[in-house]
Amino acid sequence: MIKRSRFGNPIETEAIINKPEAVEFSSKRLIRTDNGFIINLSEKEMVFGLGENVRGINKRGHIYKSYCDDNPNHQEDTMTLYGAHNFFVLSDSKLGVFLDTPSEITFDIGYTKASEFRIEINKQDFDLYIIEGESIDKVVQEFRGLIGRSYIPPRWSFGYGQCRWSYMSSDEVRTVAENYEKNNMPIDMIYLDIDYMERYKDFTVNKDTFGDLDQLISEMKAKNIHLVPIIDAGIKVEEGYDVYEEGREKGYFCKDADGEDFIVGVWPGRCCFPDMLNSEARAWFGNKYKVLTDMGIDGFWNDMNEPAIFYSEKKLKEAFGKIKEFEGSNLGVDKFFELRDIFNRLGNSREDYASFYHNYRGQKVCHNDVHNLFGYYMTRGASEAFERISPDKRILMFSRASYVGMHRYGGIWQGDNKSWWSHLLMNLKMMPSLNMCGFLYTGADVGGFGSNTTEDLMLRWLQLAVFTPLMRNHSAMGTRRQELYAFEGTERFKKVLDVRYKLLPYIYSEFMKSALKNTMMFRPLAFEYTDDEIACHVEDQLLLGESIMIAPIVEQNAIGRTVYIPERMQLVRFKDGEVISEKIYEKGHAYVEAALDEVILFVRENRILPLSEGGKNVTETNFNDLSLIAFGDEIKPYEYYNDDGESPVKDDYDKYISVLSK
Ligand code: NOJ
Repeated sequence: MIKRSRFGNPIETEAIINKPEAVEFSSKRLIRTDNGFIINLSEKEMVFGLGENVRGINKRGHIYKSYCDDNPNHQEDTMTLYGAHNFFVLSDSKLGVFLDTPSEITFDIGYTKASEFRIEINKQDFDLYIIEGESIDKVVQEFRGLIGRSYIPPRWSFGYGQCRWSYMSSDEVRTVAENYEKNNMPIDMIYLDIDYMERYKDFTVNKDTFGDLDQLISEMKAKNIHLVPIIDAGIKVEEGYDVYEEGREKGYFCKDADGEDFIVGVWPGRCCFPDMLNSEARAWFGNKYKVLTDMGIDGFWNDMNEPAIFYSEKKLKEAFGKIKEFEGSNLGVDKFFELRDIFNRLGNSREDYASFYHNYRGQKVCHNDVHNLFGYYMTRGASEAFERISPDKRILMFSRASYVGMHRYGGIWQGDNKSWWSHLLMNLKMMPSLNMCGFLYTGADVGGFGSNTTEDLMLRWLQLAVFTPLMRNHSAMGTRRQELYAFEGTERFKKVLDVRYKLLPYIYSEFMKSALKNTMMFRPLAFEYTDDEIACHVEDQLLLGESIMIAPIVEQNAIGRTVYIPERMQLVRFKDGEVISEKIYEKGHAYVEAALDEVILFVRENRILPLSEGGKNVTETNFNDLSLIAFGDEIKPYEYYNDDGESPVKDDYDKYISVLSK
């Protein structure tokens, strides 16, 4: 049962596709306060959701905020990441809540007071959805029904991708491809970061270093490798740059209080933001992707779209003023901190977000009031353009910033993480909360984006990433190289990577079923084994689809780990190219070893895990000739989804299902 109540006069977000009639607010659980709600939490109650965020699968005990933020240094106490996903479920009450507003929200989930969940909403204009169901899964499914079908990428994007910020030329890209080939490692995508552009200008190509991009694209296509370029939110201010000139003439950029184009600093220096909230400007920006699709590009990633700001002209002027003022003086602690902070606070400042404007549905709206929608609408613009540009072929699209609703238009990656063991675990924890909010095509930068990775961390991370729909190795400029051939133990990486291609039919099938039935692909154990106190509190294992449980090793130096087995399950080990069905475990704890070059998973009793032989890339992987892993006396037939992986998906689910039995 879903109830919508309206408070004030909310800004339309278009998160919801099926809006029920609004009714007057009444709830046994939510108590209205001046600026939000309080929910009293029983000791047993767990809180799941909030999409992209830090800390536990169960969110109790911490404070979170909903405010899209570019934070490449996020840690355990960070309150908000790149997305704003205001949906959560109370486990015991089987109650789901969605707050539909682009406004900043604070979720204090038993942090200030253990028994109290306090929600504070900056502006009292929002739609509140309360969803009740028989189970957590049903509540999530109802919510997903409200927000519409998740984005479905092409099947090739379920392969492995290599990215790095600093592939400086076509030849460098060729070398990456050759090295994967030489080492016999599968690969489907190579990503192009900002360096392919001419001085970081969207929809341009650096003629000196990527002048033969057309040719590179076709050379790579011949190897079944897709090149996936980045697109940034800011457009360089430069006379003669057609995108800038057009945008300026048509009045498509965000404006300052005086109605002038609002100027901020990003990669190329001075930039304007296209007004992604203005449908005309959005369609115009979306059409620009055609420059690259015409060259044969069929995938993109949208970046810096919180939107990230290095500085605004105004704040930069103030900072330079301070330097002049302090020059020559003896900087004691106060002055020194003041000077330091002025520079530290230049980027992504709230003051800047409050000083520019959109034309949203014909109204002048301050950016701060729609901040959480910017990345969503940028991606929506691209995705809507793809329907015009490429009506017969799916295009890969994922974004950094997002809001609920964007899940219909693209996937997301989990932003700028670090090569830390804690961020490997965070990658796992975020999978179910993102699925709850409709984000299915997701994964984190494998190996970690910032800081230097290590060989063991890279291997362990890859062992998790073989399961995540988006599997992209990405690292920042200046960090240690982390292409899989860059390490001494290349053979070990190959063994792990090969497992992905064996798992592909299952991963694709489970992904598609989740997208088409509004279910979750990754589920916390608490969603399935609701009466099992231990299972409900497991934070480092997940159910993946209907047949398996994953329990990756996420600790340095570990040669194995304790796994909680919530029901009879069989350990399956991928070792040296073999798939070995090992011990059947009864419910309880077990210590399971896994070497650095192995992958382990657990198959549930009476469920089927279909596997392929593997392949060099997705195109060459056989999705039809499958071997089936299962154990038990009453093995349930497996509904296997497979299609051509390319055509846009209509609602003819049954056409692509075959039943596999053993
Ligand atoms: C920030 C993105 O999060 C990261 O993935 C990218 O490499 C850099 N921008 C440079 O484009």
